[in-house]
Amino acid sequence: MCGIVGYVGNDDAREIIIEGLKKLEYRGYDSAGIALYKDGKIQVRKSAGRIANLEKLIETEDLHSTVGIGHTRWATHGAPSDVNAHPHSDMANTLAVVHNGIIENYLELKEWLAKEHGVVFRSETDTEVIAHLISVYYEDDLKEAVFKAVDKMRGAYAIGVVSAKEPDKIVAVRKDAPLIAGIGEGCNFIASDIPALLKYVRRIYLIENNETVVVTRDDITIYNADRQPVTRDVFHVTWDADAAEKDGYEHFMLKEIHEQPKGLFETLNRRLDDRGNIRLDGIHLTKEEIQQFTKIYIVACGTAYHAGLVGKFAIEKLAKIPVEVDVASEFRYRDPFVDDKTLFIAISQSGETLDTLAALREAKSKGARVLSVVNVVGSSVARESDDVFYTWAGPEIAVASTKAYTTQLMCMYLIGLYMGYTKGTITEEYYRHFIDELRMIPDKLKEVLKQEDSIHEMAKGLYRREQVFFIGRGVDCGVAYEGSLKLKEISYINSFAIAAGELKHGTIALIEQDTLVISLATQDRLFEKMLSNIQEIKARGATVIGLSKEGNKEIEGQANQVIYIPECMDEITPLLSVVPLQLLAYYIARLRGCDIDKPKNLAKSVTVE
Ligand code: M6R
Repeated sequence: MCGIVGYVGNDDAREIIIEGLKKLEYRGYDSAGIALYKDGKIQVRKSAGRIANLEKLIETEDLHSTVGIGHTRWATHGAPSDVNAHPHSDMANTLAVVHNGIIENYLELKEWLAKEHGVVFRSETDTEVIAHLISVYYEDDLKEAVFKAVDKMRGAYAIGVVSAKEPDKIVAVRKDAPLIAGIGEGCNFIASDIPALLKYVRRIYLIENNETVVVTRDDITIYNADRQPVTRDVFHVTWDADAAEKDGYEHFMLKEIHEQPKGLFETLNRRLDDRGNIRLDGIHLTKEEIQQFTKIYIVACGTAYHAGLVGKFAIEKLAKIPVEVDVASEFRYRDPFVDDKTLFIAISQSGETLDTLAALREAKSKGARVLSVVNVVGSSVARESDDVFYTWAGPEIAVASTKAYTTQLMCMYLIGLYMGYTKGTITEEYYRHFIDELRMIPDKLKEVLKQEDSIHEMAKGLYRREQVFFIGRGVDCGVAYEGSLKLKEISYINSFAIAAGELKHGTIALIEQDTLVISLATQDRLFEKMLSNIQEIKARGATVIGLSKEGNKEIEGQANQVIYIPECMDEITPLLSVVPLQLLAYYIARLRGCDIDKPKNLAKSVTVE
């Protein structure tokens, strides 16, 4: 969470930093601030609320500067107020710090700084501690002072520091929170993520964990954990700048929903060879290795976890290896049984989710092979994995994940198919049929998207509800969880998903006259069972929206309204069935006047525990 941007060059730092921050607003948006070097001083301006508030605050001021840092915040320590917004300064206002992450020992440091150095704190943040700590060690070399301060700090962080005593540089540090340095002509940058710099540079350095980077107009020097300068390959960003723009859509979420056919096409076709076989180039999964795995863990958070639930069905069915799916924040603390015969699959759009990263490290330390499914190239999860299967969703900006989810599903199917075929647990015929079915998905998804207007109409009848249930069986259950999460996170409706067969064990007590239940019934094998579940809730007065495959007309006699997806293999219906649920959540949230791309209390990339 939180976004950092820094610039040293010859142009207007204020404009460049504000532009960059706007591209990082998805990382946090409860307050924002900027520190600029001007007239021999570090000028700090900050404001609660969105970046627009900060812009307004400084619009009439002459703050022309060529060096500065900025921040957009997702509050952890202290309410989102003007005073708690970053940057934070030392007592003499000589330096300013922006920070993404958490300083775990900040209370201890605070006490020490107050007692030993008479520091008087202005904010409730952990970040302010960093500014005072650097100041304590600061003689005439900012980098050295930062090294010493960092030695005292525990936690996960990326920080950027500027000082009036050395106004030609930014010193930045990365520890378990993302940081990149952008290479310009006569100017250089730091940022939390690539979109902030897309307008200015395409060549970047990916800063590694425990590294410090000193950025001046003409130079970027990276220091490793031993404080020695290191060389780094330049990473060339291939994204189109438009990929991070709304492109005429009202919200990023809607644009990203519509980008799914393309994302799925790319994710699939980049893994198929000329003969239509799956090729996992760069991923080391030989027949012997696959045969050796006795267990697979799929570990992730939120939507990525929901992709893992479907992944379990796919891999167990195709490769006949037991799969356990866990949320990362639980996995890492439950002392899971992992050994060198375990394959650990981490799924993450951002590749920076701290819980997922920590779970990955836990599994790796116990000897597991780590394969990650990641969207952001070069992210921490990708770098720390043995092998990476990239999703080709393109940049996902909306906080609510959509195209990342469907491309993650595609990866799950491809991994399962590849393992099953290599191991010989599926026939050649089934393998080819499955791939043919996957190839048809992008076009079928375009058909689903044509229902947008009718789903919008449906939303008009539903948006005032305050409670919704989602039910399903088999893979539909995993999609029910995802549909429910999508609805609650952007519309703030209290929604709840449950396996349809589990309803009668307690939750059915909540079903009463007119309770809305969205019932997924795409599985031929389970269709009749789902019709029985629908009857049970209808008997208690529920209003039911059914979701099924074209041709399953019987559901019309049971449900009040029905959404259809095109005919496809039962195994892969999630690739289609989630999309009407994404659209429904989107239109319900829009009718409720919600801030769809930036829902309250959330951030896109969760880099704190
Ligand atoms: O970047 P990741 O895929 O690791 O993020 C995991 C979750 O934080 C994320 O999926 C979150 O649940 C989304 N807001 C869901 O829309």
